[in-house]
Amino acid sequence: MLERQVDELPHMVTPPPGPKSRVYLDKEAEMLYSSWAANRVVPFITRRKEGWAIEDLDGNRYIDMATGWASTPLGAGHEDVLRASVQALWESGGIECTSYISNHYIAELAERLLDIAPPNLTRVAPDTTGTEAVEAALRLAREQTGRHFIISFHGAFHGGNYGAGAAGPTAPDVGRGIREFMHGFIHVPYPTCYRCPFRQTYPECGLACLHYIDDVILRYEVAPDQVAGVLFEPIQGENGVQIPPEGWMEGLFALARKYDWALIDDEVQTGFGRTGKMWAIEHWPEVEVDLMPLAKALSGGALPIAAVLGTEAAMTASDDIYLGGTFAWQPAACAGALAGIEALQRERALDNVAELERIAQEVMSPWVERYEVVGDVRIKGVYIAVEFVYDKETKSPGRDIAAAVQARAVRKGLVPIYEKSIWWIRLLPALNMPPALFRKGLSLLEEAIYETSKEYALGVAA
Ligand SMILES: Cc1ncc(COP(=O)(O)O)c(C=O)c1O
Repeated sequence: MLERQVDELPHMVTPPPGPKSRVYLDKEAEMLYSSWAANRVVPFITRRKEGWAIEDLDGNRYIDMATGWASTPLGAGHEDVLRASVQALWESGGIECTSYISNHYIAELAERLLDIAPPNLTRVAPDTTGTEAVEAALRLAREQTGRHFIISFHGAFHGGNYGAGAAGPTAPDVGRGIREFMHGFIHVPYPTCYRCPFRQTYPECGLACLHYIDDVILRYEVAPDQVAGVLFEPIQGENGVQIPPEGWMEGLFALARKYDWALIDDEVQTGFGRTGKMWAIEHWPEVEVDLMPLAKALSGGALPIAAVLGTEAAMTASDDIYLGGTFAWQPAACAGALAGIEALQRERALDNVAELERIAQEVMSPWVERYEVVGDVRIKGVYIAVEFVYDKETKSPGRDIAAAVQARAVRKGLVPIYEKSIWWIRLLPALNMPPALFRKGLSLLEEAIYETSKEYALGVAA
């Protein structure tokens, strides 16, 4: 059945938003808090998701390359995952506060996660969202070391609430109203090599951004023994798939070991195969991390669930920490997560990711030469970004171009990831998307880029 989607998608019957979607979009704008509607860039309301398809209220069927922000890693409505979850929901009677009354799924999921975790991570802290998992990891690191400061990176995103929001300064706006109150974070440059913060080029830069921590931060801002840990995304996601160059991660690891800092590897978006390895940190085999927040794909696409994996030392520093909350590790969410991990392995999703990555490299890499508006294409597994510019020399951010490309792509039947005010578009297809459908999605995106280039009268190579 699902295979038919390769031929049938996309299927557009009316330009979005169609009349039915419009009614609900208008109601939302009227009733929900203002930035909910103000920041909405997807012009339809979903009726149904299945496999690699999103269907809107007006009958349009799109190719889904947003996957619930990487939360339906095996497509929407994966049968085994939903069945396991629904069965557990009936069996358990719904919600349970599992930190008070436990359920057999808790230990089963913990055991399964520790099976696939890096070997030095031996315990699990249950949570519900990625934001909570990050904040739990911060607390655990501070508790373990008895130190206060956390080093985190420019461009990072770790969640929107006070703790995680203060840690991750994606943009000044994200931190507004948070950073005024939340202290204890030191933000340092991330290796965003296409736009080097020091206007240098790798490898001639000698990893200037990394040395900045030792040479500047530890000299002028804090002493090493005031720092509890370093919170980082192994590949920055929201900041447009920023992939650290060779040597950077190893250097960060060396620094952390030298000063006894906990390394907090935020794999909320990269975990469970997104970048071609089970954990993105495996791209740097010699690097050992201490805490690893997980969420999104951990759910298998069923129900919200998150976790922190940690070393014995980090996870046993105190018996007096309350983490998690009433909704953490619901039996039905655990059952879905277990079935998701099982399916990810049984369906050999990582082999498919390797094939999709190969196709992405083949199809998308030439866009940098072909289109004046494409400044950079970054691909690791199926973690993919296209960055737009008005001018390749100055690299002036192509905000309107990204907006126009996204709007066109959606009208053509492809849903990528894009947010107001950024100038890149991301693709997060399901790890098991059929290669032929992936190619179809890429060609829709390329059509949208081609037409937008023409609109801006910017060059298109023959
Ligand atoms: C790397 C990273 N960390 C944390 C979060 C926050 O997760 P959640 O939205 O589940 O709170 C996100 C969300 O996009 C993320 O990408």
